[in-house]
Amino acid sequence: MSGTVDTNPLFVIFGATGDLMGRKLLPVLHTFDTHGKLPGGLHVLGVARKPWDDTAFRAFAVEHLQREAPGEAANRANWCQQHLNYHSLDTTSAAGWSALRARIEAIEKEQGLSGNRILYLALPSVAFPEVVEGIGSVGLSKSPGWTRVVIEKPFGTDLASAQALNATLHRVFDERQVYRIDHYLGKETVQNLLVFRFANMFIESLWNQRFVEHVQITVAESLGVEARAAYYDGTGALRDMVQNHLTQLLTLVAMEVPPSFSDNAVRDEKVKVLRCIESIQPSDVVFGQYGEGEIDGKKVPAYRSEPEVSAASNTETFVAVWLRVANWRWHGVPFFLRTGKRMPEKSTRIVVTFRSPPIAFFRSEQPSERNPDRVTIILQPEEGFDLAFEIKVPGDTQRTQTHKMHFRYAEVFGPVADAYETLLLDVVRGDQTLFVRADEVEESWRLFDPVLRAKHPVVVYPAGTRGPEEAAQLVERAGHEWSEE
Ligand code: BG6
Repeated sequence: MSGTVDTNPLFVIFGATGDLMGRKLLPVLHTFDTHGKLPGGLHVLGVARKPWDDTAFRAFAVEHLQREAPGEAANRANWCQQHLNYHSLDTTSAAGWSALRARIEAIEKEQGLSGNRILYLALPSVAFPEVVEGIGSVGLSKSPGWTRVVIEKPFGTDLASAQALNATLHRVFDERQVYRIDHYLGKETVQNLLVFRFANMFIESLWNQRFVEHVQITVAESLGVEARAAYYDGTGALRDMVQNHLTQLLTLVAMEVPPSFSDNAVRDEKVKVLRCIESIQPSDVVFGQYGEGEIDGKKVPAYRSEPEVSAASNTETFVAVWLRVANWRWHGVPFFLRTGKRMPEKSTRIVVTFRSPPIAFFRSEQPSERNPDRVTIILQPEEGFDLAFEIKVPGDTQRTQTHKMHFRYAEVFGPVADAYETLLLDVVRGDQTLFVRADEVEESWRLFDPVLRAKHPVVVYPAGTRGPEEAAQLVERAGHEWSEE
């Protein structure tokens, strides 16, 4: 979020022949360089098992760059030639690790770099422990400059595995060196949530149980499992989305004002929110799985008929959960979280609904509308805010109508930066605010571990709908309904 770009590091990217590198990291690194974000130039060493050389890696990179950020092919090839190198590594071989260290030092010498390094683990989570140990075995966690390690989600599959992974990381790195990615934290609206709350007195003064009736956080996707069944079928929506992305959004909505905006001060407050959440009762959780249905007029198959998904799979593709933040500010305010695949459209939003006035003097034109006053923080498809409020219908009447004031980032500032661009630049700057700390990730697993073990029934919902009826009933129990605007 802040800080200055330090002497340029060498980006050492493990898993450099994978999907994340091709789809996200390469385009972001290219943008950094072409937009002059790294004054000393960009230096990348891709590392993976494939027995490639620099030339083969550069061909892979050109192809992906052309797909993601098309430009003149000769320019792209030239750029890859100048900035990218490759090293093939067998992570089980001690000699292989020593050779990697020698290669890193050779590049730094050749390019006149000061020894600052970013070790990016763009790997499937099963590979994390071995690679972290390997890094430690040849002393690559220290360098003549600084060394930072970036680790992708999912961070563990439950509390015990997250604790074990933290222990492995801490044997090799200091927590100050560790950057756990949750790409939702890099989204512009998510960062602006803090500004919105803490730079606007009128918002912050109403942001508590006296004035807020309930909070909804929805992350809906129209996509299905796509080609990711190998990962997703053993994971499910609770681990894939709720434990990380949705919980992160909740902590930012609910946290107290930190004493400063330093990275640890902000993260301390987020952890405190997690500690205040009451244990989740089975009756407050709904699991669903998409059946066949229709999206945008096209028939789509049921989850169980997707390639590589077992016909008897009980993996949840939808979760709705009611959380209670038991502290002074939020006592009695329900927080409803909901996420699902194959919902009618992609829509990520946080809706904060305010209480009704104690006496209803006026008659609304939309009598069915409950508590119309709300702030909607929109993350997707467009980023921005809506403020819904009541206004008098002109003329000789006491009737009111609900109106919305709206703000969209793109209309005011043009396109916003990709989340990965923001996050990667923060790693270069050494700012950990938007990264998940060890205790934060463990607190979040502590909350959801019992839900994982409870074996909730998984209710089938037709693709193209907003999840099982039980999810609507969950919110109705508290006297509310899901906001779908
Ligand atoms: C990823 C999940 O972390 O987030 C995916 O693994 C999901 O299943 C994706 O589709 C959603 O991200 P976004 O930024 O498109 O909302």
